[in-house]
Amino acid sequence: MRVKLRNPDRVEELAGSRTVAELLDELDLNPSTVLVIAGGELVTAGTALDDDAEVEIRPVISGGAGGPRCVVCRQPAVIEEPRHRSAWCGPHFVDHVQGQIRKAIDQRLDGQRMFSYEDRILVAVSGGKDSIALWDALIDLGYRVDGLYVGLGIGGYSSRSQVICEEFAARRAEPRGLRLHVVDLAEEYGYSTPSGSTATGRAPCGVCGLSKRYVFNRVAVDHGYDVMVTGHNLDDEAATLLGNVIRWQDDFLSRQRPVLPATGPNQVRKVKPLYRLSEREMAAYCVVRGIDYVVEECPLVDGNTGQELKEALNLLERTSPGIKAQFLFGFLDRHADTFAAERPGGDGATVELRACDDCGMPTVGDVCAFCRQRDRILAVLP
Ligand code: AMP
Ligand code: FES
Ligand code: ZN
Ligand code: ZN
Repeated sequence: MRVKLRNPDRVEELAGSRTVAELLDELDLNPSTVLVIAGGELVTAGTALDDDAEVEIRPVISGGAGGPRCVVCRQPAVIEEPRHRSAWCGPHFVDHVQGQIRKAIDQRLDGQRMFSYEDRILVAVSGGKDSIALWDALIDLGYRVDGLYVGLGIGGYSSRSQVICEEFAARRAEPRGLRLHVVDLAEEYGYSTPSGSTATGRAPCGVCGLSKRYVFNRVAVDHGYDVMVTGHNLDDEAATLLGNVIRWQDDFLSRQRPVLPATGPNQVRKVKPLYRLSEREMAAYCVVRGIDYVVEECPLVDGNTGQELKEALNLLERTSPGIKAQFLFGFLDRHADTFAAERPGGDGATVELRACDDCGMPTVGDVCAFCRQRDRILAVLP
């Protein structure tokens, strides 16, 4: 059989037939960290693979193995989640994911829904599994939701991500009158993530994060959207929480919530409808729905502490399924208010915001952090 592996990309040719479990064991892979796809279908541990099978193994970072039958219809399951002590067939797994998104949208944290059918919604799509799946699910759930792709200039990785977003938009969004905005950082603002990082000596992720947050809000404000949606999932949020708790960053903890209301003019509400779903669930959603996404990681990810925190949590999750969700949901249900309550309005705004002298977007000083970073970069770039 021909086995395609990712990160790094490689192909193994193996003689003879074997089960998925045997194959993973032979390749020394932890079954809870990968999805196995054969003949375009997600397959589970007990599935037999023929000698001439074409197999793809995709890394995902959570989950585990469990019962093989769908909890709803008893048909053979394509995915098992020990955290939910459940397994699902394809269609019921899609229902499960969309149900968790529905629950996140409607649960009225801070007294209101994340958004309603009247709102104009903008989702930030990176081409990765989470945000593309989220756009797909929100369209299915009947919301009016446009997309925004930010070109960060990270070589082939960025161009491949853009193509994925454009192809998804052409297939799923545009026929419904929904639009994909594309903003290229270099064209619009004169620098890319790598050149900005070299010019300032700042880590690429720092330059990248600040630029993205700015462009997200800017496009949402300029085009009159009510709410900005991102694809941060359970793994992202739990890792961020762990990082904030380890360093006791009270200020960040006060803003760590799935809904952040706008605190002034030129700011839109920010929401994270995937915070109840793991990376593995989102990757599986894409496979089950036949959605193409960028499997490769950003090449600049090395040294990103968020990645190490995710690995630490996965180590715990491996022996205690569900511990990651307990950590995050326990904080949100019982402790987030403690930190938020220290802020006027309970929304994380410690100081009055005013308009940036350069761009007019909200800031605490005279010139916003984005404009200051951009000035420093453009002063150095040829
Ligand atoms: P990350 O910060 O890469 O973990 O991404 C978190 C979320 O930010 C994603 O789920 C997307 O919603 C959004 N995002 C990340 N990169 C981009 C991008 N280049 N363009 C648009 N949205 C992005
Ligand atoms: Fe940090 Fe890509 S810039 S992961
Ligand atoms: Zn089923
Ligand atoms: Zn500014």
